[in-house]
Amino acid sequence: MSAAERRVNLGCGDDVRDGWVNVDYRPGETGVGGDDVEPDVNQDLTETPWPFEDDAFDHALMDNVLEHLPNATDAVREVARIVEPGGTVEIRCPYPNNPSAHRTDHVRHIHPVEFLEGNYLYDGLFEVADWELSRVRLGRVFPSDESALWVCDTFGLFGIDEWSVTLRILDADD
Ligand SMILES: C[S@@+](CC[C@H](N)C(=O)[O-])C[C@H]1O[C@@H](n2cnc3c(N)ncnc32)[C@H](O)[C@@H]1O
Repeated sequence: MSAAERRVNLGCGDDVRDGWVNVDYRPGETGVGGDDVEPDVNQDLTETPWPFEDDAFDHALMDNVLEHLPNATDAVREVARIVEPGGTVEIRCPYPNNPSAHRTDHVRHIHPVEFLEGNYLYDGLFEVADWELSRVRLGRVFPSDESALWVCDTFGLFGIDEWSVTLRILDADD
């Protein structure tokens, strides 16, 4: 694997990226962007272990994928295995309160608190390097992402389309 291929795009759909290892399980089908899904690796992400060595990558992307996986916590633990300590994982999901989160192929809703406030299943796996909300409607009303999240959660508003979190993988030996 070359240095350029130390990034992995898990559940790539038709967002196939040069210099990345693109992974999906439905080659030949049409992706959300209207193009064919042409992954480098055909892998069902519900089946672990994934066919990569420990620490094989320094960055992983899961863009609108985790909510499709019935064993999402296993997938997070697996991505922490294949990304080296100090490497990063970007996870992007629909905000649970948004109508787009309620597609029938989404098996569960994932809220950013699962990462921001911790989950004992992930103890010692990663720290949160960054997080953000995207496409916050009425965005100028809110002074921060924290306040937008609080207002939308408290009052059940549809004000957020997606959230993302960047995790930095920790060394299990530390
Ligand atoms: C909403 S699309 C997102 C595609 C792409 N990441 C993007 O943002 O444009 C979800 C993708 O996850 C893939 N996916 C869902 N379940 C999967 C599984 N069990 N194994 C591998 N890929 C899966 C689908 O095939 C689909 O391409």
